[in-house]
Amino acid sequence: MNTSAQGLDIQAPAYVKNPKLVAWVAKMAALCKPARIHWCDGSQEEYDALCQQLVDAGTFKKLNPAKRPGSYLAWTDPSDVARVEDRTFICCEKQDDAGPTNNWMAPAEMRATLQPLFDGCMAGRTMYVIPFSMGPLGSPIAHVGVELSDSAYVAVNMKLMTRMGRAVYDVIGENGEFVPCMHTIGAPLKRGEKDQTAWPCNKTKYIVHYPETREIWSYGSGYGGNALLGKKCFALRIASTMGRAQGWLAEHMLILGVTKPDGSKYHVAAAFPSACGKTNFSMLVPPAAFAGWSVTTVGDDIAWIKPQADGSLRAINPEAGYFGVAPGTNYHTNPNCMKSLGKNVIFTNVALTDDGDVWWEGMEKDTGGKLPDHLLDWQGKDWTPQIARETGAKAAHPNARFTVAATNNPALDNAWDDPAGVKIDAFVFGGRRSTTVPLVTESRDWTEGVYMAATMGSETTAAAFGAQGVVRRDPFAMLPFAGYNMSDYFQHWLELGATIQGQGGKLPRIFTTNWFRKNAEGKFVWPGYGENMRVLKWMIDRIEGQAAGQETAFGIAPKYNEINWSGLDFSAEQFDSVTDFDQGAWAEEMKLHDAHFDKLAHKLPKELMSAKERLQRRLGAL
Ligand code: OXD
Ligand code: MN
Repeated sequence: MNTSAQGLDIQAPAYVKNPKLVAWVAKMAALCKPARIHWCDGSQEEYDALCQQLVDAGTFKKLNPAKRPGSYLAWTDPSDVARVEDRTFICCEKQDDAGPTNNWMAPAEMRATLQPLFDGCMAGRTMYVIPFSMGPLGSPIAHVGVELSDSAYVAVNMKLMTRMGRAVYDVIGENGEFVPCMHTIGAPLKRGEKDQTAWPCNKTKYIVHYPETREIWSYGSGYGGNALLGKKCFALRIASTMGRAQGWLAEHMLILGVTKPDGSKYHVAAAFPSACGKTNFSMLVPPAAFAGWSVTTVGDDIAWIKPQADGSLRAINPEAGYFGVAPGTNYHTNPNCMKSLGKNVIFTNVALTDDGDVWWEGMEKDTGGKLPDHLLDWQGKDWTPQIARETGAKAAHPNARFTVAATNNPALDNAWDDPAGVKIDAFVFGGRRSTTVPLVTESRDWTEGVYMAATMGSETTAAAFGAQGVVRRDPFAMLPFAGYNMSDYFQHWLELGATIQGQGGKLPRIFTTNWFRKNAEGKFVWPGYGENMRVLKWMIDRIEGQAAGQETAFGIAPKYNEINWSGLDFSAEQFDSVTDFDQGAWAEEMKLHDAHFDKLAHKLPKELMSAKERLQRRLGAL
């Protein structure tokens, strides 16, 4: 199909049969005025050629093939290192539909703002047409998108993170739907001009979603969730609005499988705020005492969950790769992840070793505490242990990332690519709190679970731009990702539960966890990582009716002797310190719940206020 855009021949390959898609590419080319258009086919040859092009441009360094075969390192502009929540907009007609937790602008006003920015934004560059499926191709739970981007870095990352390439056009067919995703780094080149930097971007940034027309427009950043539009923009913000309209859930959740020694298997979907260990939990290696148990990964970040005719909820991981935080990852915190990173990886903003490999803070735990003698840090500057001691300079940026295909993961679940998805048996909501919230509790019913999830709190992390260490409410770990009013989102969860129950279906159990309670010395008490298996097993015991637990104000909690402690020295006293209820702290906590709900008061479901009153009564009775 050929259409021309102001003299530029669109030259869509013959296998692109969707006139709407071709017309859109032509229209966007006419607006952005790229020098050329590249229709990505998703092949290995294309990936290799684009990586080579990025090496030639200085954006990628090829890592030592003897140490890290098929792998590359990119260093970004220091101003383009994380998602920019303050520049992220939900542009629906009514501000109320975006709600108080999202930045909002009316669609017409935003279109008028973006029009001059996108006009000619790709001059001198290639526009990549990147077709991708979020989820197994053709799965009834999956949806497709097409991203237009002037970044080859985005094209190769999308190849690892999604099912990207030619086969997606067959899914779109002649009349199929796709979510159009526009992306530009916002750095047009004048005729004959060459890039002055290896990471061109624009200090003005806009990450814009139009939920009513299901479009994404991203301007000025080349980094992560700002630019790989399948991930947060589509799979969470736009998909959450699709899920609300169509009766399903798009969630910021990992999905794992846990298999018992007798072969029975359960699937858990767990929401933790950004950079709170979702990848670690999804790749958990059970301690030695759990012989015969295994944990397998379906997904590490996002779950799409659709109710089925039999009253169950089935989930897919819409992604095909992991874009995880590198610092802190090592053979102790996540051995399966380290094994996944052996080859064919794109690293961003980690440090470069003198022998052409990568390094980040946390890797010294694998070398007995020994730091490398010399590195180039993520900004290309010399780094030595002495410089680090004297200046506090980090070798890797705290939000440095790896991009790797899921198929690299030795613990990949054998159903990870199953178009039917997996049946979810439990939801877990994990806050990051140094006090107050206990290690684990199970909600007494769906509404209490929704309440627990709606009031989750977390300290801010490096993945989000802004102050660190401040506790913020992050309901369902969706604060930066819900594409509509948060109170309507709570209502959607309540309604979905009521509908399934009303049809006689069996809802997954809902658990809350907090791995992060600290003692008086400010040290974490719970060992975390692989030891979280002990909590996971208690959840399975609950599902199977093997653990009675005990009533607490905040749900059902394990008794000390219901946890398998074999191989771990963890006293009843320590257990108390991560599970006890401090009345004073909870009184303060409830004030914070009030403040949180005050902000969301306009449409807050009444059920949540009643759940709060019940909780308050129980706390009063402690
Ligand atoms: C992520 C995030 O990158 O949540 O997954 O920020
Ligand atoms: Mn995430």
